[in-house]
Amino acid sequence: MPLMETAYKKALKPVLFRFDPESVHDIFVGVGESCGKTEIGRRLIERLYGYDGPDISRTVDGITYRTPILLAAGFDYNARLTNILASMGFGGVEVGSVTAYPCEGNEPPRLRRAIQSKSLVVYKGLKNQGVDRIIERLEERGAQPGLVLGISIAMTNAESSATIAGAIDDYYQSFRKLNERGLGDYYTINISCPNVSGGEGFTEPDRLRKLLTRLAEVECAVPRYAKMPISADWSRFRELLDVLVEFEFDGAVVGNLNKDYDTLEVREEAPEEYRGGLSGRPCRARSTELIKKTRAHCGDDFTIMGCGGVMSGDDAIEKLEAGADLIQLISGMIFEGPHLMKEISHTIADRG
Ligand SMILES: Cc1cc2nc3c(=O)[nH]c(=O)nc-3n(C[C@H](O)[C@H](O)[C@H](O)COP(=O)(O)O)c2cc1C
Repeated sequence: MPLMETAYKKALKPVLFRFDPESVHDIFVGVGESCGKTEIGRRLIERLYGYDGPDISRTVDGITYRTPILLAAGFDYNARLTNILASMGFGGVEVGSVTAYPCEGNEPPRLRRAIQSKSLVVYKGLKNQGVDRIIERLEERGAQPGLVLGISIAMTNAESSATIAGAIDDYYQSFRKLNERGLGDYYTINISCPNVSGGEGFTEPDRLRKLLTRLAEVECAVPRYAKMPISADWSRFRELLDVLVEFEFDGAVVGNLNKDYDTLEVREEAPEEYRGGLSGRPCRARSTELIKKTRAHCGDDFTIMGCGGVMSGDDAIEKLEAGADLIQLISGMIFEGPHLMKEISHTIADRG
């Protein structure tokens, strides 16, 4: 086992995994943000985790990614890590999901580990500081060399946005403000968050059409993608893809959390009643299958970001071979360690 992997798995992870996952996440973000603020911090992280092998960059929708690996939405939800992620081997990040208003998220506990199943039970409920604060932070920090900035947009998890009209207005406000400021290399409209009041409101084709009609009022100069629900059956999923194509979306992230607790390796690791979607291993097979079907249905011009259960170089290759243009991940970094992006990059360089 390479040194950084051993250090994480044998020394750091056993300690971190004793503490509440959300507190560990907050510490990690604090440390990452501090390292990112200084040249020496960035260099140190780059030395430990950066990728300097053969060129594996990819250009997708006119945007060049230094590595085809992005940090998926939900980890850097307040955009605090943009100055360190390139040093960790990420070619891009999807910050957010951001919402029109600040939101504290659901009642804690919002995160729970299912260790044997290599999954997190995620009940965050779109906790974030709101689009205005996130715009301020992104403007303060400016563009980061070597890191593509995607911005994921969702609706505020609050009563005011629990109606269809309120929810559409919420997405619209964030989308308009971000476009007016010219922030973000691309946008992802998160239509499939499983943990908000009012439910997954936009995984129904007519509602999605209404949302995209309103968003089309905003002039947008960068690619637009949608984050897809992997628990939908294929016929519903295909209908949603058709709506995206109708509105000339550039592609999709396939996909979001898994709602089916029976896909856990150890069912007892999740609560009896549904309380949050599953990340990690339980997403892998389903998202790969949907990537294959999406590629066959939408053709080669439709961008696919493959996301769900990428925990190794082999998993990343599986997604790329299924038809993904790029990879997104969160859980793999938590369960395997921060060396994962480097490992995946070398696998892609060898076999991609
Ligand atoms: C802690 C956590 C928070 C998340 N929050 C969001 C979010 O705000 N928006 C979103 O589109 N996806 C969110 N997701 C879903 C991830 O972006 C991703 O789709 C999912 O975790 C599957 O990828 P993974 O198996 O690599 O973790 C979240 C996932 C996790 C683990």
